[in-house]
Amino acid sequence: MIKVKRIRHVTFVTPDIDRQIDYYQTVVGLGVVTRDASRASLATDSDELAVVLQRGDQAACRRLTFEVAPDLDFADLVATLSRAGIVAEIQSDPLPGVSRSVLFRDFEDMEIELLAGPTFAVAEQPVGGIAADRLGHIALYTQDPLKASKFYGDVLNFRVSDWIEDAFVFMRCGFDHHSVNFARGPGRRLHHAAFELRDASHMHRACDLLGRKKMQILWGPVRHGPGHNVAIYHRDPDGHLIELFFDLDQMIDEDLGYFEPRPWHRDRPQRPKVWVGLPRDIWGPAPSPELAEFKRKAT
Ligand SMILES: [Fe+2]
Repeated sequence: MIKVKRIRHVTFVTPDIDRQIDYYQTVVGLGVVTRDASRASLATDSDELAVVLQRGDQAACRRLTFEVAPDLDFADLVATLSRAGIVAEIQSDPLPGVSRSVLFRDFEDMEIELLAGPTFAVAEQPVGGIAADRLGHIALYTQDPLKASKFYGDVLNFRVSDWIEDAFVFMRCGFDHHSVNFARGPGRRLHHAAFELRDASHMHRACDLLGRKKMQILWGPVRHGPGHNVAIYHRDPDGHLIELFFDLDQMIDEDLGYFEPRPWHRDRPQRPKVWVGLPRDIWGPAPSPELAEFKRKAT
């Protein structure tokens, strides 16, 4: 089994790459590392790539890039994937600061890329906007969340943190409560992308910046139940739902099997579980009715 350690960056296809570059520079707060007519890569203030944009006909989430241990051999990674029936290829110089990576697809054709160890890429200009710390997690629709949880568990060592009934699964690869989520839906596409902020003050400034830019906050601030992160949601110019969050639950020691205790937890200790019924959130408003991704049914 391959042990994924961290989520690193996400690749989006966009029909208007200039508009998306402007959004990530001036709202999320990433800096442009490379840019040509068809592709741009953007990094955080910590010089880590967070978003790659590719020009294309339809807005879509194309690829998730994860980090594995620095001593892993790429040929071994390909051989391990091959034994699991997965065809993978080694890429050379795929990204700024990245000399090699391994690329394959999951069972619904999402591209998965693996990097070994840390890589850094410095932006041309200092970042502006919110200056989010990093890419936190990606939530994807899938026709079969249980199958997705097994694939990412068996192949990449993700662990299940929580389920919402049988429709939405949260999975961790490090100590963060979730780095990928899978929501039941008609087919593989983005549910939402989430960027991490430092604290409540950073969130406050993010709300003020979205307000100044007349970008509507569609949900939040809210403290969720699963993961207990404080979150706000808005849409990027391509219509993708973007979450900004802080204060996510952490399972620092897998052997203990519970998340670090927090005053707002309802369970003591807070272990991975299936959340059933409402209310799930600890505090905060209900999502805007426009937010189809989080339509609620009363139970
Ligand atoms: Fe999220």
